[in-house]
Amino acid sequence: MTLEYRWVGKPLARRDAYEKASGAAVYSSDLFPENALYVVAVRSGLPHARIKSIDVSEALKHHGVVAVYTHRDIPNNRYGVFVKDRPVLCDDRVRYVGDPVALVAAETREEAEEAAPLVRVDYEPLPAVTDPLKAMGEDSPRIHEGGNICRRTRITYGDVETSFSKADVVVENTYTTAAQIHAYLETEAGISYIDERGRITVVAGGQSPYRDREEICHTLGLPREKVRVITPHVGGAFGGKDEITVQIHLALVTLKTGRPARMVWSREESNIAGVKRHPSIVRMKTAASADGVLLANQTEIIFDTGAYASLGPAVLDVAIENCNGPYRIPNIDIKATLVYTNNMVASAFRGFGSPQVIFAIESQMDQLAERLGLDPLEIRLKNVVRKGDYGVFRNKLEGSVGIDKCLESLRNHPLWRRRGEYKGVQNHEWIRRGVGVAAAVKGYTLGALPDRGSVALELNADGGFTVRASSTEIGQGIIQSLTQLAADLLACSPEKVRVILADTGETPDTSVTSASRQLFLSGNALRIAAEKMLDLMRDVLAKATGDPKTSFRFSDGHAHTMKGEAIPYSAIHSMMAEGGVATYVEGVYEVPRTTPIPGSLEIPHLFYMYGATLALVEVNLLTGFVSVLRVVSAVDAGRVVNRQTFTGQVEGAVAQGIGYALMENPVIENGMMRTLNFSTYLIPSIKDVPEIEVVAVEDGEESGPFGAKGVGEIGIVSVAPAIANALYDAVGVRMLSIPMTPEKVYWLIKHRR
Ligand code: MOS
Repeated sequence: MTLEYRWVGKPLARRDAYEKASGAAVYSSDLFPENALYVVAVRSGLPHARIKSIDVSEALKHHGVVAVYTHRDIPNNRYGVFVKDRPVLCDDRVRYVGDPVALVAAETREEAEEAAPLVRVDYEPLPAVTDPLKAMGEDSPRIHEGGNICRRTRITYGDVETSFSKADVVVENTYTTAAQIHAYLETEAGISYIDERGRITVVAGGQSPYRDREEICHTLGLPREKVRVITPHVGGAFGGKDEITVQIHLALVTLKTGRPARMVWSREESNIAGVKRHPSIVRMKTAASADGVLLANQTEIIFDTGAYASLGPAVLDVAIENCNGPYRIPNIDIKATLVYTNNMVASAFRGFGSPQVIFAIESQMDQLAERLGLDPLEIRLKNVVRKGDYGVFRNKLEGSVGIDKCLESLRNHPLWRRRGEYKGVQNHEWIRRGVGVAAAVKGYTLGALPDRGSVALELNADGGFTVRASSTEIGQGIIQSLTQLAADLLACSPEKVRVILADTGETPDTSVTSASRQLFLSGNALRIAAEKMLDLMRDVLAKATGDPKTSFRFSDGHAHTMKGEAIPYSAIHSMMAEGGVATYVEGVYEVPRTTPIPGSLEIPHLFYMYGATLALVEVNLLTGFVSVLRVVSAVDAGRVVNRQTFTGQVEGAVAQGIGYALMENPVIENGMMRTLNFSTYLIPSIKDVPEIEVVAVEDGEESGPFGAKGVGEIGIVSVAPAIANALYDAVGVRMLSIPMTPEKVYWLIKHRR
């Protein structure tokens, strides 16, 4: 197609911006269907126990209570994307404090909440398995019948031991990272009702309406045509809604009662029962030659997935894939274990296993540089992968690789070039400043897993187009991106593009909204649909005018003929309607992928995102408090489709990364969640987020729509190590554990030698 890029790359205002900023946008938690039952889950409150009996009779007698459901009401009581190990309502035992045991459906929220404690569950407490290292031991109490090892892999290439003996420098450390709570403004929430076609309809915050529908149908034993899932605007997801939250519970209540239902988790409930980022222990031994060339990396990764596998097996894969950073390392040895505990449920969270291991390798890189007397940025540039190189698994890097350009842009940035001056500013004698850098990599797309998506396109009577996709708008801006892509692909104005998203009754399956790839996936499917649409329009025009099919040019919502005539799209629609030609096409895009590593799920990827972060920090020697004064984030974007959305994605990711690095610390003691609200679970506020400068590297991804690639997750990945490296630069202490709370920093400063 010979179309100009009139709209792609332009900083158009997001079409969902005004409604969101003004509060008019409707989210799941804003919906109050008439005559709805309010649903409350009775949660275990115990980290590990056997259920001896459940008595719902007292709860049922409570005023306003319509029904109480237990596992006996669920035909197939296990779900899960990779491992069907999670009960909809617990039957034999509970495995973490948030495990649901019963559902109370009442006329009002108050009545449901009052009746919930009246459900009597007789438990036999079991020893809580809370230490992932102990959980791996043979003598540990078992959380699942198959034991506590959810997944274990070892991948080796070359010979690390020989490299260690020959290397000029070897650095070895153990890193730990805490869990992280997604802390979305909108908690897990939704409603359900029976729609006009008799379908059980669930409207809920989510990332994958079709997959959620599968889980509902599977657990409740319903045929697909009886269930509909709609995802309206989502008030934040970040991976935390990439699986079932309220959906099955709501569907069950409407199925059983025939009435609409509503369920909205409180913040406490969200902190307890919602999924979290995997806490990790990463042991890493890295070797380099005197000139800074990386020789070997040996890594042991332990991820605590908590009570259920959820997306953990794939998260572990991504950790394995990224533990060598964006570097060429000939000899590697990776041992990785995903272990069950009674701590929580860990699953997807922006970065999906990468932030934990990148914290380790990027801290290693700075230590290697220091030991060798090399510049931290130069040692990275010396080792980065380039397009056509071979990746960790000897997989050819066929996608665009922009890490060199990301690092080069930081090398030329004044904050790096003149970092001595920036460091020299000292307001008080107890304040020290430092500048740190870190690089990042993460695959986008589902890697080696099969993945295809469909986007539908319709020409409307007014000459505009309707785009239908099941991508969910989780804040990332997919509505606007699809609009701008469609306007260019179809040569019309963005105002003429209508986008309908995420309704299994109205939109085709565009797969899940995760892995930073909806723009790539739905954008490519849209491109295919647009090609079909233009072809269809040419057919109709050729028939109507007698001109050859290839003679028409499209621009500004018109088809231009050889004779210089301009036919508006609305007229083409009339021709189609008169001729009985369907005005609807679908584009299906199959994401290219590689051969999986035997025994793995996602890895390797064919497509990777790259990024690099520069951080200027200020450390208070008296309190150990670290403030981030400035961040520069360079992101390999392929091609930016909408500038503000791109910048917003990266700024949000950096803010979330600052929280992860410095303050976010879910406290789980003996399996009990202690940080129940934002009063104790601290996330960055406007005062903690500094000036963030976002640099786009736009090299173009050949396979991407208009050259675009994924950007959703990469911005968070190297924030924590950049801050840790800046902390070292400031005060000479090496932090091996995040979050880098004032207590930990103060202790390190106090004991530094
Ligand atoms: Mo994500 S963490 O791939 O939603």
